[in-house]
Amino acid sequence: MESERNAPGRSRGEGGAVLTDTYGRVATDLRVSLTDRCNLRCTYCMPEEGLQWLRGPDLLTDDEVVRLVRIAVTRLGVREVRFTGGEPLLRPGLPGIVARCADLEPRPSLSLTTNGIGLRRTAGALREAGLDRVNVSLDTLRPEVFHALTRRDRHQDVLDGLAAARDAGLAPIKINTVLMRGTNDDEAADLLGWALDEGYELRFIEQMPLDAQHGWERSDMVTAREILAALRTRFTLSPEGDTERGHAPAERWLVDGGPARVGVIASVTRPFCRACDRTRLTADGQVRNCLFAQEESDLRGVLRSDAGDEEVVRVWQAAMWGKKAGSGLDDPSFLQPGRPMSAIGG
Ligand code: 5AD
Ligand code: SF4
Repeated sequence: MESERNAPGRSRGEGGAVLTDTYGRVATDLRVSLTDRCNLRCTYCMPEEGLQWLRGPDLLTDDEVVRLVRIAVTRLGVREVRFTGGEPLLRPGLPGIVARCADLEPRPSLSLTTNGIGLRRTAGALREAGLDRVNVSLDTLRPEVFHALTRRDRHQDVLDGLAAARDAGLAPIKINTVLMRGTNDDEAADLLGWALDEGYELRFIEQMPLDAQHGWERSDMVTAREILAALRTRFTLSPEGDTERGHAPAERWLVDGGPARVGVIASVTRPFCRACDRTRLTADGQVRNCLFAQEESDLRGVLRSDAGDEEVVRVWQAAMWGKKAGSGLDDPSFLQPGRPMSAIGG
């Protein structure tokens, strides 16, 4: 056992090296944050005045991003790549990055998590570049509540962006919703009715302690249990297939017998760490083995030291090998990570 513990990412047969940890989990899903900036100021994420943004030279260049994705896909067994932010559509090179990642062999699945604002302009080009899917964040159907939650009047832009994504064939379109008590927690069933009409797949995410202002209170959080109860006042929900979630954090339910579905991501009350298959790269080139990790490993430094791919592989594997069993959210000693969600990527 001891020798295995000293041996990150030993070959697992045909795939060669993999990103594995001491609990036997294998990371095949890479989240790449392309910028920490955003054009919204969601209250559960950022303060009104924004944050101290990363400096340009600290960001990975487009070439560096593509190199790391190439190594992840061709050497480390990553099969899915999701671009996130901040708001990834603020990154000018995004379509080019997507196109170059779509040319990799084996071709990874490529998706984007966005607030949707820029999609009206970019959905077509991204689809052509090879993007497969989008997840769009939308928390409310009411423009004034959108303003209260995001501090910006961009509700219609998000709705237009969603329609553009649908027209461009970026299917399925998933919508991520965070409910905040006293603001939009009365909208769960309305949002689901609307998503069913529009053909979007809605997923509710429990609010996590990842806001820059450290304002999260467990007692304030709208729980998965509450969300399901609210949905059941209007819809019949039945578990989809077996209730085992596998690697998917969302527990999915068939709505009124299906085929439409709704997801609930109980990140806090029912954590899915045991099935986690994620590895994350921040916009400044740090590997994080968990959203809630306290440590990061510097891949940008490795890239800029002119090291070969072999060294990148080694550092990335070692970073994942140190992944903890769980988020530690339920531990009294839980400490929020130094970076907020907007600088890690969702
Ligand atoms: N808790 C839960 N979800 C969050 N998101 C951003 N901050 C938080 C938080 N503190 C969501 C966004 C987006 C996804 C990447 O994560 O709404 O949909
Ligand atoms: Fe921007 Fe997403 Fe944070 Fe909202 S949650 S401020 S859209 S990064």
